[in-house]
Amino acid sequence: MTCRSVVIDCDPGIDDAIALLAAFKAPELNIEAITVVNGNRPLETTLRNALQITELAKCPIPVFSGCWQPLVRDPLHGRFHGEQGLGACQLPAPASSAQELHAVDYLIQRCRQAGAEQSPITLCCLGPLTNVATALMIAPDIVTGIERVVLMGGAYRESGNTSLYAEFNTLADPHAADVLFRQNLPITVLPLDVTHKVMLTPEHVDALTAVAGRISPALNALMASWDRNDVRRYGSRGGPLHDPLVIAWLLRPEFFTSEKARVYVELDSRETLGRTTADWYGKTQQPQNVNVVTGVNAEKVFALFCQLFSQYQEVEE
Ligand code: RIB
Ligand code: CA
Repeated sequence: MTCRSVVIDCDPGIDDAIALLAAFKAPELNIEAITVVNGNRPLETTLRNALQITELAKCPIPVFSGCWQPLVRDPLHGRFHGEQGLGACQLPAPASSAQELHAVDYLIQRCRQAGAEQSPITLCCLGPLTNVATALMIAPDIVTGIERVVLMGGAYRESGNTSLYAEFNTLADPHAADVLFRQNLPITVLPLDVTHKVMLTPEHVDALTAVAGRISPALNALMASWDRNDVRRYGSRGGPLHDPLVIAWLLRPEFFTSEKARVYVELDSRETLGRTTADWYGKTQQPQNVNVVTGVNAEKVFALFCQLFSQYQEVEE
């Protein structure tokens, strides 16, 4: 089995937490570090949550604290994660702390090392792109150390979830998203167009809780908080499995279909700030470097998460 070296940049965040807990149990992923960014909640909260989740999973992965505000706009925080950012999930205060190095400096050092060793890494982005964009602006040479950026964000044929047009991660830092999409890096995006097709329903919550062993109570509290209860918008009960879908794509890309495009981010209009637009047919004559994931086999994704969460069933000594 090939093991992919990954750095996960995130803003936990209920769905970030679910994604991390699943990723920790995937043997195909060598998660070298977690970098944290302002997003769903202020940085000190997303950092605390990342430390708590690594301790819940008993995964001593180094956590680096990153940017506390977007590149240009005022900070924007999420509405569905609760004040503490993990919904109804209550975890002990973290015993561990963030690494001394700033997340941006870590990303620059690690990507430069990967480039020098000709063993590029995958950046897995689950929140606003402030950390990654800042690293790219300070050190554009790091692109040689990046195999691919896989991110949850954007909305193409779907309407936005935070404004009429924009998805949260791109609206929370549209200038950072613009910096990333201007690179000719291989990028895979999982936008609302696909995440809205994978709804974490109450039935899925029961099934995943039943197999998750020692983390069942925490996982249940996270997932139960995620129910939007908006059948009209989503076609079913439950909440869209945004960030965990990035992990599913990394592990089983064959469960998904995608379309190549060049992606642009709206920066000038108050109404459409953060809107992502795809050039599907090469009209702008720029490299079509982005795979926009639009199709998914949702039931196979849930079966994968059942298998991953069942790894938390501790084998009797
Ligand atoms: O729009 C969904 C995205 O915004 C997810 O990453 C969620 O965690 C929030 O950050
Ligand atoms: Ca997130």
